Amino acid sequence: MKILVATEKPFAPVAVEGIKKVIEEGGHELVLVEKGTKADMIAAVKDCAGLIVRSDKVDEEVFAAAPQLKVVVRAGAGYDNIDLAAATAHGVCVMNTPGQNSNAVAELVFGMLVTLLRNRYNGTSGTELLGKTLGIHAFGQVGRNVARIAHGFGMTVSALDPWVKDEDMLAENVQPVHSVEELYSQNQFVSLHIPATDQTRRSVNRALIERLPKNGVLVNTARKEVIDEESLMDVLEARPDIRYVADVKPDNADALVEKFGDRVFFTPKKMGAQTAEANINAGLAAARQVVANLKDGFNRFQVNR
Ligand code: 3PG
Repeated sequence: MKILVATEKPFAPVAVEGIKKVIEEGGHELVLVEKGTKADMIAAVKDCAGLIVRSDKVDEEVFAAAPQLKVVVRAGAGYDNIDLAAATAHGVCVMNTPGQNSNAVAELVFGMLVTLLRNRYNGTSGTELLGKTLGIHAFGQVGRNVARIAHGFGMTVSALDPWVKDEDMLAENVQPVHSVEELYSQNQFVSLHIPATDQTRRSVNRALIERLPKNGVLVNTARKEVIDEESLMDVLEARPDIRYVADVKPDNADALVEKFGDRVFFTPKKMGAQTAEANINAGLAAARQVVANLKDGFNRFQVNR
């Protein structure tokens, strides 16, 4: 059977080699579409039984064009790019690969913070992370890695996650907090790790951001949709001490840069999971999951039950 890997943002070549090997050892054929458009994906998927994507959009149009499709694996954590209802309607199993790229994203949080705090290495005097407070908004796989690294920097770490027990956070030397208001009021740095869902879209709004203490920094390596962009603009205007860095560029990025200069900082393209290690981990996991699903219906990480 044919398995399509369609990634607008390509995996590292070493990961593609590994994916190919897993697919071929499973008795299948790899079809590779890198840096393609949605039209390229649609053209390539028509006779494929499996599909591996990253943040690439997989919607009704794609499913309708793929009558043989049995399984889609999002090589990564967030699956807001996949229309789950359409997948279910077409009898397609959708899985993600939780945890496989989370260290890469967590490391970038600190890369971005240090770059911001050292004034982008322009020779002027910056500030440090040691002894500062960090609030982690959602304590999933990325959040846990962020906490581990933050401890290395000597930060005091707290987290909000209604799905995680207090004792599990305390076991990782993380102070549990129980409301967003508390999280944003008590931490100079807040790192966002919530998924984009109907409940979270635009939920990080003025009422929250303006709670940040003096010299507060919000770092977003999650999804641009969770920020209320007008609110962000308003708070940055009202509070000249607050800064915002994001690996998920807001739609109003140009306006923010023009208005607030060095107080905001965005990667040109989402880079969090873009390491050879994360590509290998997530890409190989995705390939194994597709092959196992086609073999005997493996569905451990199914998200459209
Ligand atoms: C994820 O949800 O796994 C991350 O946001 C990474 O996304 P990417 O594979 O598009 O880089």
